[in-house]
Amino acid sequence: MGISGRRALINGASAGMGKAAASLLAAEGVNLVLSARGAERLAAAALEIRGRHGVRVDTIVADHSTDEGRLRILAACPDPDIFVATCSPPPLTPDHGGISMQQWQESLATGLLSPLQFIEAVLPAMQRRRWGRIVNIATIAAKYPLELRLLSGAPRAALVNYTVAVARRVAADNVTLNNVLPGMFHTAAVHDQFSEAARRNGTSYDVEVHKFVDLHQIPARRFGDPRDVGALVTWLCSEFAGYITGQSIAVDGAATRSTF
Ligand SMILES: NC(=O)c1ccc[n+]([C@@H]2O[C@H](COP(=O)([O-])OP(=O)(O)OC[C@H]3O[C@@H](n4cnc5c(N)ncnc54)[C@H](OP(=O)(O)O)[C@@H]3O)[C@@H](O)[C@H]2O)c1
Repeated sequence: MGISGRRALINGASAGMGKAAASLLAAEGVNLVLSARGAERLAAAALEIRGRHGVRVDTIVADHSTDEGRLRILAACPDPDIFVATCSPPPLTPDHGGISMQQWQESLATGLLSPLQFIEAVLPAMQRRRWGRIVNIATIAAKYPLELRLLSGAPRAALVNYTVAVARRVAADNVTLNNVLPGMFHTAAVHDQFSEAARRNGTSYDVEVHKFVDLHQIPARRFGDPRDVGALVTWLCSEFAGYITGQSIAVDGAATRSTF
């Protein structure tokens, strides 16, 4: 993919789609700086990726939604060639009126202000070097609003807006900014959520997933594999994707419909 030897900072990289992106970038020879809050899972992910792909993998245990966490991550990796932003899905919200101000503030800090501040921090050096790739792993709810996913969709709709505007500003410097919009995926967070429903209903994880697929009529008849997103992130970070910028690409098994 033309990116061997490049350096990527991936926030939220110890599980799910962030880890899949890290692993697939490493397979292309990209050296990594990975962050997450939980030390044990992060160390295990780094060990696995290092062992499998032989690249350099540094880790920072930090909460990227806080000023303190951001400072520590950026001190360890101030000028990456590639920046990938992700986090855990925020809680589902069956009733918009039940969302507390604290929940809004937390989801804005994690889903909007954190990636925005990292992008602002890493962009100038990318522009100077005339090479940079930035990808936000956001959510399909940014494009197709859903009451159940307000805490996920609303901050990321703002992030997409920001990303597209900034992408136009830096396009001539060979720096790209894109968003991946996942539908439903088999990740740690989803596993916990659907396993809990299975316990409550006396069923199994697979049964709960199929119930969801039926209810929401997902044409692919399944949830996605995190590697599907990891591969797209890697390709958007490749040498070949330099003319693709300011885009938001759905990866959702045709759950949503839109001609463009
Ligand atoms: N899974 C889905 O079906 C689905 C659907 C639509 C959209 N999405 C979106 O896709 C993205 C990834 O979701 P996922 O399911 O892959 O999540 P996941 O499996 O929960 O993984 C999230 C990763 O981010 C880390 N993380 C979370 N909050 C963090 C913070 N504040 N600071 C540093 N690290 C943090 C987690 O580690 P620690 O917990 O140790 O920090 C973990 O490594 C999210 O933006 C989510 O909203 C997911």
